[in-house]
Amino acid sequence: MSNKQKLELTWIGKDVRPKLEPRVLVEDPALSYHAKERVTDQDIFDNRLIFGDNLLALKALEQEFTGKVKCIFIDPPYNTGAAFAEYDDGVEHSLWLSMMRERLELLRRLLTRDGSIWTTLDDNEAHYFKVLCDEVFGRECFIADISWKKRDGAPNDRKVGSIHDHLLVYARRRSGTAKRTDAEESFNLMQRTEKADSQYQLYEEPFGFDPRGPFRKVDSTGNAKGGRYVESLFYPVRNPFTGDEVWPRKGRCWVYKRDEMERMIADRRFFWGKDGKAGTPMRKLFKSEAKPGMTAPSIWDDVGLNQHAARELEIIYGEKAAFETPKPEGLMKRVVEIASSPGDIVVDSFAGSGTTGAVAHKMGRRWIMVELGEHCNTHIIPRLKKVIDGADPGGVTEATGWSGGGGFRYFKLAPSLLEKDKYGQWVINKQFNPAMLSEAVCKIEGFKYEPSDGVYWQHGRSTERDFIYVTTQTMTAPMLDALSEEVGKDRTLLVVCAAFTAKNLERWPNLTVKKIPKTVLHKCEWGHDDYSLEIKNLPWREPEPEPAAVPKKKNDKTTDLFTGKPAKAKQIKRAPRKKRVQEAGVRKRSKR
Ligand SMILES: C[S@@+](CC[C@H](N)C(=O)[O-])C[C@H]1O[C@@H](n2cnc3c(N)ncnc32)[C@H](O)[C@@H]1O
Repeated sequence: MSNKQKLELTWIGKDVRPKLEPRVLVEDPALSYHAKERVTDQDIFDNRLIFGDNLLALKALEQEFTGKVKCIFIDPPYNTGAAFAEYDDGVEHSLWLSMMRERLELLRRLLTRDGSIWTTLDDNEAHYFKVLCDEVFGRECFIADISWKKRDGAPNDRKVGSIHDHLLVYARRRSGTAKRTDAEESFNLMQRTEKADSQYQLYEEPFGFDPRGPFRKVDSTGNAKGGRYVESLFYPVRNPFTGDEVWPRKGRCWVYKRDEMERMIADRRFFWGKDGKAGTPMRKLFKSEAKPGMTAPSIWDDVGLNQHAARELEIIYGEKAAFETPKPEGLMKRVVEIASSPGDIVVDSFAGSGTTGAVAHKMGRRWIMVELGEHCNTHIIPRLKKVIDGADPGGVTEATGWSGGGGFRYFKLAPSLLEKDKYGQWVINKQFNPAMLSEAVCKIEGFKYEPSDGVYWQHGRSTERDFIYVTTQTMTAPMLDALSEEVGKDRTLLVVCAAFTAKNLERWPNLTVKKIPKTVLHKCEWGHDDYSLEIKNLPWREPEPEPAAVPKKKNDKTTDLFTGKPAKAKQIKRAPRKKRVQEAGVRKRSKR
């Protein structure tokens, strides 16, 4: 037996996993919005804003968007300790980790092979989250922990105060032993910053200014320490202005081979000082020849602070916005710019005031956002309408050259497919119309919902030749005869119906007949609408096992303690299981 141990983070309730119902998303056209006219032929209209709990929303998106999302940005609740005042830390942190693990697993599935996920957190959870991500994504998929400077001064009430958030970046995959993850292979370079550009200058030389324009001076010698000294690169060159022989400084060598070095000297690619007498020439890196972007550093102090984000919202809403935790558009621009290209899908499942969608929209990306709070309606909708109307002058509008266009569709989660009737039996929810029922069953049975206009029984497919038909009818033998004939020998059909009277179903080898709701009952948790981080969503603790009953001996002489007579066996009625579990939960909690 292997005694290899797994390095992992454990927490209370780690093994409790929800069986999520893949819900249907229902569009509310009254809240969807698009520009009045096309602005360019690249306008994007099928962006999605989803109002509801993101766990159910991500599950609802899973089938359609698996492997399609290039960039995910999330800014989840930081778990600052305010969520459950009456709970101990272990429970609070455990709940948070459980909540995040479920969402991360679904988010990971949505990513393209070269996709990446970017998460902002502060010191409350960032380090635990890193270990959780190592488990979900694989440690080899970790890219960076970027420090984003969020405030100028440290908080006054601390002796050592944090002024940054973590921005943890993970890739969907790394192939084999590749040096870089697949995401990094497809990342774009970061746009050059003003600070980086300011390093390029015009320097006077003995012949005047180089007509190739501003350049940056870089060392032309290599450090011989650390075994990097190369004998053949230690040779003299001739200064073209003085004619002197010049050797690399002591302990160093040139970084170019002799013929390359001589060619570059002739091409005036070295700077010998204003008067041409420098002891060691510097290599000229011309701005005109520099890469169009630059490698992103792991400290970002130039993309806006929290206070800038608040100001951006004030400009949009024209007042102090009642939203506490927005991110600056500059931060989102940097992420979107590196991790995606125009037309790619960007997802934010903790949308808040909608910064990610607003920036992705201005940068020509497609976006999906999910938000549970009412600010989905009060903040995100008006903000995105302004972006679409070209009426949001703030944030990155100028930097991206945005002038309006496109649109979004607004969705809500459909209710649970099953509900209990007055007898406590699971039945199909009355709010479901036939189309919704068929879409929901397709999702649950793993079929792609694709109703055919011409063929009444083709509601969805799992392959080219395998279809599904969902009906509330009672299927009789003649009905199945007719269906089977239409489906033919080369195709198969799953018939999900309310009931069937036909016997010997093997008579129709190309049909599989199942009854709803029976066939889906065990597949997921029904009627569970909210998996957010709230006390009411805590799982019930399992009751402690009851002591095993001692078998009664034949001549049991147990006597009643008070009468001394042989004791009568008492029938102890056990409470129903659910009640026992709940009581156990209450007992456990009231101990604190
Ligand atoms: C820190 S805010 C995000 C702010 C956002 N980055 C911005 O710039 O406005 C986190 C958001 O996640 C939302 N949220 C928390 N739990 C959620 C859940 N289970 N489903 C959907 N949204 C959730 C909260 O309502 C809150 O708006």
